[in-house]
Amino acid sequence: MPQYAKIHWLESGEPFSEQFQDFYFSTDGGFQETEYVFLKQNNLPQAFIDLTDKQQIFRIAETGFGTGLNFLITAMHWLQTSSLNSTLEYTSIEKYPLNKVDLIQVFSIFNKNWPQLSLYCEELQAHYPVEFKNNQIQLDLFNGRIILNLLIEDASSALKNLSPSLTDQQSNKIDAWYLDGFSPAKNPDMWNQDLFNSITKLSKPGTTISTFSSAGIVRRGLQEAGFNMTKVPGLGKKREILSGIKLTSN
Ligand SMILES: C[S@@+](CC[C@H](N)C(=O)[O-])C[C@H]1O[C@@H](n2cnc3c(N)ncnc32)[C@H](O)[C@@H]1O
Repeated sequence: MPQYAKIHWLESGEPFSEQFQDFYFSTDGGFQETEYVFLKQNNLPQAFIDLTDKQQIFRIAETGFGTGLNFLITAMHWLQTSSLNSTLEYTSIEKYPLNKVDLIQVFSIFNKNWPQLSLYCEELQAHYPVEFKNNQIQLDLFNGRIILNLLIEDASSALKNLSPSLTDQQSNKIDAWYLDGFSPAKNPDMWNQDLFNSITKLSKPGTTISTFSSAGIVRRGLQEAGFNMTKVPGLGKKREILSGIKLTSN
């Protein structure tokens, strides 16, 4: 059984992580932030629209599933823009999953602030387990249009374990990465060279990556691992964020 997230509910209704003393998302601009940092910087949903018949599975991997906000917004875009014969495989790694009661409470905030997500919240809520009995679950959502793999373990070890099965087959590799741990200062286990190297092994030329963090350790680490990283302006109070692309096959 995993250790579940310890949530402190602020008066505003927002969930705050007791373990990491940090916010999962901002009720103010959280939706726009996800679209900007993760979808736009990975050139989604244009990549969803551009999928050819040759590639019918698009793979996104995320470090830090949290409340599922990034997943829900991505699912919304995927279902609105991609062709009906394609599948999104979304793999997210989470060491401290929210228990279902907390997830339902978070979804009530999402429904209130962003009613356009209610359909997607409903589907995920219906499939989200009451208890995580295994450290890997696969949810078949939206009539098979989206497969959600939740890996309930530490991100570095999960990615290391994934590497051997995917390293040989270019076609199975990840198309886009969302790095969404808490900030590196508060959550160093989510941002280390081992993890960045595993990410590279799971990527192919053209794989994109983005994160809200602009920390030097993240930019240099991903660069050293083989990504071409660029600082781009952030939204609101966030001055800069990072996006990148893997150019070569090694
Ligand atoms: C900023 S939150 C993620 C927000 C999430 N993407 C969302 O849409 O709500 C960071 C997440 O990383 C998880 N986390 C922290 N340390 C971890 C580790 N070592 N391995 C895997 N997940 C971890 C936390 O439990 C938390 O859910």
